[in-house]
Amino acid sequence: MIIAIDGPAASGKGTLARRVAGHFGLACLDTGLLYRAVARDVLARGGSLEDEAEAAAVARTIDPATLSDPSLRLPGVGEAASVVARISAVRAALLDLQRDFARQEPGAVLDGRDIGTVVCPNADVKIFITAEAPVRARRRYEELRQRGEPVTFEGVLDVILRRDERDSSRADAPMRPADDAILLDTSNLDIEAAFDAAVGLIKRKIGQ
Ligand code: CDP
Repeated sequence: MIIAIDGPAASGKGTLARRVAGHFGLACLDTGLLYRAVARDVLARGGSLEDEAEAAAVARTIDPATLSDPSLRLPGVGEAASVVARISAVRAALLDLQRDFARQEPGAVLDGRDIGTVVCPNADVKIFITAEAPVRARRRYEELRQRGEPVTFEGVLDVILRRDERDSSRADAPMRPADDAILLDTSNLDIEAAFDAAVGLIKRKIGQ
């Protein structure tokens, strides 16, 4: 079984995907970490995020075993990730890795922006998770504050809006719900309620 969870920045996809995967006994891949790792490695080599050939070369070296690096979660890395994510050669370099992951038994949950549309168009269940931008910004702001990051709410909101605009307007694999995706708006749901709603949607879809 393959479950695709897509949605905009800080929509809670990652947390939801992990919980859903645990519930159904499936593997889980946060595909945003792949793009974040490409950005991190390009910058670590002193390269430019706009250099398509270099970013693609770096993307071909990404090792999914190195994605637990906590620095990947920093806001600046998310911003840099959305710049390299516009490059088609980077996306192509990461495609097989994601599809191989999805093929494992008994199944997998992948979260990102283009899982339901491009990476796994035949996924058994596709969920597009949304929440109003100020709600997402508030959640991300609280998360970063707890980790001691020097952030402001306005700054976080600004970064989220810019990133959503970049992700939904790019030519290759723009962020959008697949035609057969189920929309889940979590503006008024906490993580428990969002999890319960997602499990209910999935069970209904797979006829359990
Ligand atoms: O966790 P958050 O929503 O802040 O971001 P993320 O899922 O880690 O993704 C970081 C960036 O990677 C996004 O802004 C996208 O530009 C890019 N991305 C993508 O293009 N395709 C994916 N399947 C996943 C992420």
